This record gives sequence, structure tokens and C-alpha cells, in this order.
Amino acid sequence: MVEGHSARHTADLADGDSSRPWQALASGYERARTREDSLDRLVEWPAQRAMLGDVTGLAVLDAGCGNGAKLAQLAGEGATPAVGVDISGSFIAPPPGVQLLEGDLSDLAAVPGLAGRRFDRILFLQSFGYAADGVEALRTARAMLTEDGFILLTRTQPVRYAIERAEQNGTTLGEEYFATESFAYRHRSWDEQVTLTKRPYTMSDLLNTFSAAGLWIEAAAEPRMTDDAAARHPHKQAVLNKYLGILVFRLRPIPHR
Ligand SMILES: C[S@@+](CC[C@H](N)C(=O)[O-])C[C@H]1O[C@@H](n2cnc3c(N)ncnc32)[C@H](O)[C@@H]1O
Repeated sequence: MVEGHSARHTADLADGDSSRPWQALASGYERARTREDSLDRLVEWPAQRAMLGDVTGLAVLDAGCGNGAKLAQLAGEGATPAVGVDISGSFIAPPPGVQLLEGDLSDLAAVPGLAGRRFDRILFLQSFGYAADGVEALRTARAMLTEDGFILLTRTQPVRYAIERAEQNGTTLGEEYFATESFAYRHRSWDEQVTLTKRPYTMSDLLNTFSAAGLWIEAAAEPRMTDDAAARHPHKQAVLNKYLGILVFRLRPIPHR
């Protein structure tokens, strides 16, 4: 049962291992995501889908897959097999060809049912920050890729959190962007009762993490709203104007590492 609506949940662990709140957040997140004006629908998923490309006949692993709905769409578009892993264990009834596993994305090879398997595409869509150790999680994922495989990883612009905290704390962008202390975070649209504890990160931190895991950036994107979507949902354009959005990366193994 989702206790998050009646009781405050505080993840007293850093972002790396703050998985428990997601048992409470899962339904609020999915409800917010499916709203017509959600940024996931308007901006993030279209950009993620575009960067992923044709999935026909490709083995796809979605790490931190939420309820599995995005993966189910990919299976409908030809991905096979399509496997999702999420710590919340709150899944849709999987359609044929989709396997949804409860597990930790910090060590994908240790998730029961995944040992020894290889995937053409491994996705970390707004889930990478929850890995206990980002470099280790990516090294493990890298070793699970097929020869021409890649990782699709998206993460919130770190500037966004810095601006939000500067507003809250009456500080400056630079003070918050370069801060190192973990901070409490509540998402207004998901469930304000649930508190996540997040570690600040900079762009350099992110890029150094990819390098340390033996990955290079084949492509990067900072998706924005289309003019049409902005005209329909000006309040969401205003959010992006103020806080920016997400970063999307296509990551490939650096050969011989
Ligand atoms: C912001 S949601 C993104 C969900 C989905 N990837 C999407 O793009 O809609 C983050 C997801 O990561 C999952 N998560 C958090 N910590 C995790 C962990 N340690 N292992 C696996 N999944 C985790 C949460 O349960 C949640 O479904």
C-alpha cells in the first residue's frame, strides 16, 4: 500500500541508495507522468524515443523502468526480448514478450534472471541517480551490451536543482551548483509527502562518471518543447524556461577498456 499519501517518508540515505521511497512514490510518479501536460509526455519520452531509434529485433533492458509502460511500447514496436527492472515492483501486467523484474539497477548482473544475458540497448531513463555507485552500475551495464550495443541515459540538468535550491535557500546558483551536501527533495507533481535525499552533481561529475565507466558520448541532447506543445501548455514552457529540462546521452563502450 502506498503510505506516502498519508505519512511523510524520509529517505535518510543518499540518492545512491534511496530506493525505499519509491515504493511510496511509484503510483504518484506514474499518475503524474500520464497527465496530458506532463513534461515526460511532452518533452522527455519523445526525445528518449528519438535517441533510441529503431528497436526492431533488438534486446532491450530498461533499468529503473517504472511500471514498465515505456518498455511495453518498445515491445509493441519490435523490441525482443524486452526486460525491465525496477526496485518498486509496481508493474503493469506485462504484455507478451515483456519481462518485468523487481531488482536494483545498481548491479544489473546480480538481478535474478539477468546473469549472463546480453542486450542491444540498456536504458537508464531518469533512474541513474539512484544507483549506489554510478561508475560501477555503468561498468556492469557496459559488460552486458552486445557488440554494437549502446546505453541510453537521461538525467536532470544539474542546473535545475541548483536553481530550485537557490530559490528555496536564498543563496546563489553557484553556491548550490557546487554544493556537496546531500539535500532533501520533494517533487510537487509526484507526491509532496515523500522526500528523496539527493546528492548534488555537476556536469563534470556526470561526464567523468561516463569516462570512468569506459563509455564515450556518441550523442547528447537537451530536448525542448515544440512550439505547438508550448502554445498548448504555456505553464510547462514557463517551467522549462526557468529550470531547463533533462540531458539525454547515447553512450558506447570505449573499445579495449
Ligand atoms: C523518475 S522514475 C523514472 C521511471 C522511468 N524510467 C521513466 O522514465 O518513466 C525513477 C524510477 O527509478 C526507480 N528506482 C529508484 N531506485 C532504484 C534502484 N535502486 N533500482 C531500480 N530502480 C530504482 C524508481 O522506482 C522509479 O520507477
